[in-house]
Amino acid sequence: MTETPAVAPTMPRIGDPAPSFTASTTQGEIQFPADYAGSWVIFFSHPADFTPVCTTEFMTFASMQEDFAKLNTKLVGLSVDGLYSHIAWLRTIKDKIVFRGMEDVEVTFPLIDDITMEIARKYGMIMPGEDSTKAVRAVFVVDPTGTIRTIIYYPLSLGRNFDELRRVIVALQTADVFAVATPADWRPGDPVIVPPAGSCGVAKDRMEGADEGVTCVDWFFCTKEISAEAVTEAIAAA
Ligand code: BEZ
Repeated sequence: MTETPAVAPTMPRIGDPAPSFTASTTQGEIQFPADYAGSWVIFFSHPADFTPVCTTEFMTFASMQEDFAKLNTKLVGLSVDGLYSHIAWLRTIKDKIVFRGMEDVEVTFPLIDDITMEIARKYGMIMPGEDSTKAVRAVFVVDPTGTIRTIIYYPLSLGRNFDELRRVIVALQTADVFAVATPADWRPGDPVIVPPAGSCGVAKDRMEGADEGVTCVDWFFCTKEISAEAVTEAIAAA
């Protein structure tokens, strides 16, 4: 008897084009990522409507929406619930829920109806070891060209750190604008990493201070200062 080979689940990876789909959302139909060309997007999943951790996350996302907009970043949510459930849940959040000083919170970013789980499966948001009928808390950061730049997963029980999500956007934009990398726990105003040069000759020049403003402590470890103001201005202009 021949065994049918198990089909390995697929998921997009960092550097891949974001898989495209058409979806029905609380803000009408969207074509993803085409409708978002030119913007950064945080595309995220949550396990279920009418659940407490997800409620706190939606209130936090909604309260940060303007801040993300200033970073040219839009929000798109998804769960494997239907549109009427989404609408009822978001209305309940607005009418009743108070969390950490937030109340009367209106969620105006699109929340995708993915009752068939088609999109969640396409993006590897269903992790059966955790739950086969709910999406985990996945975060896909998609850049203005529609390329996936960061993927973060959290289990059902763990609410996301929104300060970190904002930091990821600022760090990615800083890396793009200045052609640098950002070290552990980087915040705007901290030194950035100047990637190692392609040749030893260039690296040696760097060690001798050939690149203005670059400090090297070894051939592979060079930093430079970029002020928080320069970061803010440059990413706003990008
Ligand atoms: C919540 O959002 O509270 C939640 C959802 C699914 C499982 C556990 C918690």
